[in-house]
Amino acid sequence: MVLSKADVVNSLLKERSSEPAAAFAECFAPSNIALVKYWGKRNQAINLPLTSSLSISLDDKGTRTKISLSNKQQDEISLNEMPVPNHTEFASRLSHFLNLFRPAGIHYKIETHSNIPIAAGLASSASGFAAMVKALDQFYAWKLLPSELSILSRLGSGSASRSIWEGFVEWQVGTREDGMDSHGVPLETTWPGLCIGLLIFNEKKKAIGSSEAMQRTVQTSKLYKSWPVQVADDLIEAKEAIKSQHFDLLGQTAEHNALAMHATMLSSWPPVLYSTHETFEAMQKIWQLRQDGISVYFTQDAGPNLKLLFLKPQQALLQSIFPNMQVIESFK
Ligand code: PMV
Repeated sequence: MVLSKADVVNSLLKERSSEPAAAFAECFAPSNIALVKYWGKRNQAINLPLTSSLSISLDDKGTRTKISLSNKQQDEISLNEMPVPNHTEFASRLSHFLNLFRPAGIHYKIETHSNIPIAAGLASSASGFAAMVKALDQFYAWKLLPSELSILSRLGSGSASRSIWEGFVEWQVGTREDGMDSHGVPLETTWPGLCIGLLIFNEKKKAIGSSEAMQRTVQTSKLYKSWPVQVADDLIEAKEAIKSQHFDLLGQTAEHNALAMHATMLSSWPPVLYSTHETFEAMQKIWQLRQDGISVYFTQDAGPNLKLLFLKPQQALLQSIFPNMQVIESFK
């Protein structure tokens, strides 16, 4: 049985309304940063992962999306008040996703605001799809469960399955072929004082998208077979670190996990390298800071930018070393 995204949507929305419940709906979803990464799909059609992953949401950094009906012959999409032409990748990806939820003859007006750089490996698609699904749920008054919103968001982009919640979220890999058990599950624990510092070197769109890069890694990297082993160990350590608020264990686990993920990419063919000289320079600074006794770690997604992990007392010092760093506290 080969399932499509439309099959998943139909099975979740079978009895649900296709009549808007209001003139518009507007919802926010936070961006999230994986501490134990998702890299590799077991099913590309409906974005099922090969491993579980674990993230932290970025508080008020993310995407706010408003949906209403359009009387035009095509979707009207804007991003941060600017119209986005329909032929662009951004608009076509969104309109394709909306096709899954489009009664015949309907076009949407989508006004989206993002306060994080788009497509620079800063998980903008995660918050974007999660906000879109939440807004659809409200617009049609479907009243889906958070786990169901997570499954629908996953169809837009895998990591979006974790952006339905604040705080720490585990995306459980699941075993079902239809993916109905592959969704986010929030962790109860909070961690006031845990800081994430965004080091943005390049806001430009990445040369190779995460889907293509992960597929290439799965198919060509001989190191990839060690990745699920690494993730299984890292998930145990990260959850233990969160439970016991053991910062160094969490930092080490997250940094090690990110480096292992990038090692699998580098061992793919053709190789995938997201880092630039700025990335490597910052990594070396961070390793030097640790040698000097400062507890700071990094993680890196499908882009050159780094996200630092540290505790509040280190903020002033780190801000003086990285003046452009933007700091987010997930548990204020
Ligand atoms: O959700 P996608 O398909 O954009 O993939 C995200 C992959 C990483 O950001 C590199 C890792 C993760 O778990 O978010």
